[in-house]
Amino acid sequence: MPTDSHPRLDPDDDLTVAAAIDMNAALAELQQQRTRSPIIRPSTAADVATLIDQSYPQGGDSLEQLVTQISHATERYPRRNTHPGFFGWVAPSGLPSDPLAHAMVSLLNENVGGYWASPVGTTIEKTVIRWLADLVDFPTESQGVFLSGGSMANMCGIASACAKRFGTDYRSRGLAAFSVESKPVIICSSAAHFSIRRAAVMLGIGTDNIVAIDTDDQFRMRLDALETALGEHDNIICVVASAGTTNTGAIDPLPQIADLCHAQDVWLHVDAAYGAGGLMSPELRPRYRGIERADSVVMDMHKWFYQSLAGSLLLYRDPDWARQLFTESSDYLRMNEDDSPEQFSFFSISPELSRRFRALPFYISMRHYGLDRMGRNALHNVRCAEYLAERVRTEQDLELIAAPQLSILCFRYRPSGLDHDSVDRLNTLIRDRVQLEGDYLISPTRVNERPALRVCIINHATRVEHVDGLLESVLRIGRDLIAQDKE
Ligand SMILES: Cc1ncc(COP(=O)(O)O)c(C=O)c1O
Repeated sequence: MPTDSHPRLDPDDDLTVAAAIDMNAALAELQQQRTRSPIIRPSTAADVATLIDQSYPQGGDSLEQLVTQISHATERYPRRNTHPGFFGWVAPSGLPSDPLAHAMVSLLNENVGGYWASPVGTTIEKTVIRWLADLVDFPTESQGVFLSGGSMANMCGIASACAKRFGTDYRSRGLAAFSVESKPVIICSSAAHFSIRRAAVMLGIGTDNIVAIDTDDQFRMRLDALETALGEHDNIICVVASAGTTNTGAIDPLPQIADLCHAQDVWLHVDAAYGAGGLMSPELRPRYRGIERADSVVMDMHKWFYQSLAGSLLLYRDPDWARQLFTESSDYLRMNEDDSPEQFSFFSISPELSRRFRALPFYISMRHYGLDRMGRNALHNVRCAEYLAERVRTEQDLELIAAPQLSILCFRYRPSGLDHDSVDRLNTLIRDRVQLEGDYLISPTRVNERPALRVCIINHATRVEHVDGLLESVLRIGRDLIAQDKE
């Protein structure tokens, strides 16, 4: 019998009592919002703050009230990556199976640090990794790990390259010990994602030590310039190639880059954070030829694999370099006493210790829809991008600036008789007006130093009528703006 000296929780404070709520009913409004226009509505931070209760949380709000509060706010000030007319940045649409899968992740609440911590989670994560490693023809000894996103995965891939470049002492003595004679550099193209620069910052390499190679007329890394750079530097950590750049979707010439790297035993890291989804399609796979020769590859699930945020796969051809960097044990955690699968831990090949069951939604959607079917959707995205490019080519007032190598293209509204500055202004106005109208969204960018209309098609719900709709909007708004100017 508990006595007064035993700690007792007041029954009113009991958190184990679950509030009853009908999940389907509660989430129905959010479900409908996914494809509702407008995609975005301009706001100030103060506008949004008025819809979010920021008073000290005393408790007592019902779950229904909370769902209503949030769905009211997202209805008023949406940002719907889920909308089939969303063509901005590189944002994931999320799959219909995701809400269930993410609820399962929360209910199970497994910490997928390794086998002993989560036998099922580890088995599932390793399974999904193997399916994806097979898409790039990586050897059976390769290993991978899901991280929070492409930025983290790029950084860890480069960290692993440092381990190989500088050997076991790198772990204890740090980069400074190897920077005395000549500065260690990362080589990538000028179109590489900025996460490479941030990796250089975080790893103590420094952005001054990134050698940015010029791109060719298709925005791909120039091989002659790469060859020169490889000859000029003797302390090269890695070459980072892109299999789908963020701005134009360009795929660097991977087979030739792999040849050059292998000739000098330089680590090749391939950033396929955006582009990798196309690997699901056998028709598209030849475009990535050479990726199978990389030392590390990054593939974001929350981009063109259609998965809800968040998860990025980092694949290591030889995981031992990462293991050399990250393996630790402590009095309270003794691990990796042998190579058996039961001793396997993800935290020995990556920096995270506590890890969400990230692979579960991927496992569920890949098994439910099938990788081949998802691949046919990726192919459809590419076909839509190619169709749009063809329409742009045939429209007199439009100019195609970056043809799709995958599912991104850039173009410009450019009626005859306008000078460069007017065309630049016009395109910025068109982009803003398209966003304001609400049915389509294209994000700002510059190509060759000038504003461009960039279209990224990675939504599984996008159909050709959305692509046509976007183009009609651009043409109509462009004509209206020119007419207004003449008035
Ligand atoms: C090519 C490329 N690499 C890396 C990243 C960074 O990925 P994340 O946003 O998941 O950190 C992006 C993001 O768009 C990208 O396009």
